[in-house]
Amino acid sequence: MAHEAVLIIDDEAAVRTGLRELLESEGYEVETAADGEIALQLLQERGFDLVLADLFLPKLDGMEILTYLVNHVPETICIIITGHGTIPNAVAAMRLGAYDYLCKPIESTALLMVIDRALEHRRLKKENIRLKKQLKRKYGFSNIIGTSEAIYKIFDIIRKVADTDSTVLILGESGTGKELIARAIHYNSNRREGPLIPVNCAAIPEELLESELFGHERGAFTHAIRTRCGRFEQANGGTIFLDEIGDMSPNLQVKINRVLQDHQFERIGGLKTIKVNIRVIAATNQELEKLVQQGRFREDLYYRLNVIPIKLPPLRERKSDLPLLVKHFLTEFSRKKGKKVKCFTPEAMNLLLQYAWPGNVRELENLLERLVILADGEILDVSDLPERFLTTAPNNNLLTADIPDDGIQLNEAVSEFERQLIIRALDKTGWVKNQAAQLLHLNRTTLIEKIKKQKISKPPESSDLPPKLF
Ligand SMILES: Nc1ncnc2c1ncn2[C@@H]1O[C@H](COP(=O)(O)OP(=O)(O)OP(=O)(O)O)[C@@H](O)[C@H]1O
Ligand SMILES: [Mg+2]
Repeated sequence: MAHEAVLIIDDEAAVRTGLRELLESEGYEVETAADGEIALQLLQERGFDLVLADLFLPKLDGMEILTYLVNHVPETICIIITGHGTIPNAVAAMRLGAYDYLCKPIESTALLMVIDRALEHRRLKKENIRLKKQLKRKYGFSNIIGTSEAIYKIFDIIRKVADTDSTVLILGESGTGKELIARAIHYNSNRREGPLIPVNCAAIPEELLESELFGHERGAFTHAIRTRCGRFEQANGGTIFLDEIGDMSPNLQVKINRVLQDHQFERIGGLKTIKVNIRVIAATNQELEKLVQQGRFREDLYYRLNVIPIKLPPLRERKSDLPLLVKHFLTEFSRKKGKKVKCFTPEAMNLLLQYAWPGNVRELENLLERLVILADGEILDVSDLPERFLTTAPNNNLLTADIPDDGIQLNEAVSEFERQLIIRALDKTGWVKNQAAQLLHLNRTTLIEKIKKQKISKPPESSDLPPKLF
């Protein structure tokens, strides 16, 4: 690790030498200055992590040095040394921005402790600033790519609702960016300094549910060795993100409904009612209204969640965003993988534009990650694309076919036409046969028979969609 650099400013040579020896023996890199002017010159020449400055100095005094640091290099920590124990001056220095002050004669253990604490404080502060910048970059609006009217409408809603405490319900097919939007809302709200706690409602095993959400008191059940905070408590002061709410078990629906109603609950085995200050964002790729009609989702919970609905359009309905998304992911993956893939040929781009993208932005993201890794050059062509893109090419498309001069085999053409329509319906529904059958106004078994007869199989890439390909 690089040694941290300390500048000692004191007009007494003995103090300078003593402190230099002490700090160098602790591994610090030390420079000294006998007066304020020399110190200022050094500070302008190079960076220091910490400055130890006597208050009373010839030429420029400690307060002037401190003022310079506060205004020009705020990341450098300043500790004031005062010879006369003049506490009011030291307090004034602290008000101005000094980290601490020490009175002469300086006791070495105390000095080392203060320096150690000050540098730790500086490290944490820097790390905090770095992490916050990273989060902002990651979850700010600028990371949601798109210029289509649909995306602008969504930006507009987010802007209006982020700073309110209203419950938001994000709806959209798998991979459309629901989680991205939920995070953008939290990090653009006045709760951004608070926690964002995700709960995947489909993934918590039933037996862990209550303890996971509401926590438990020590001894509440056999394995409850210590008291534990549940997700709702962890989210206090921030946002709880209830993901996949369409897949919630009926039992969980009851429990969540109760908490959302009055924002209070008890830990398992606890008597005390805990009240939390939370904002709720929920998301699902299911059609909630249908689930309500079918009696599979509680109506009261639906209305409680559906305060501000945000419907994310599937990628196929905002194809104008596709070139921008492609550019974004190519740049990002090229940087991460050390490649230089810049674009697609116009023919390949055309195929991307015609494709139905059943897995939406996630499918695009996964595909581009793979293509960048496998790419040899800077430009990707039709031959780099998986086969499923070629089956949607326009010249294979019998919907626009003319009858050629030498005639056409009607039965074969009709069969090919049927095959393409089935593939399209399957693509459109993410290969969910029930939904594809509904789109084609067929019953499920008829569709399955046709799929068998036509020897249609799911392309391997589609089945890999939810988890990352690599
Ligand atoms: N508009 C967008 N701009 C940039 N990246 C996006 C956009 N929309 C989605 N993504 C990216 O696509 C991937 C999938 O998004 P996200 O996980 O938010 O989708 P989801 O709707 O929650 O999907 P699922 O229903 O499967 O959970 C993420 O890596 C996300 O960063
Ligand atoms: Mg999600």
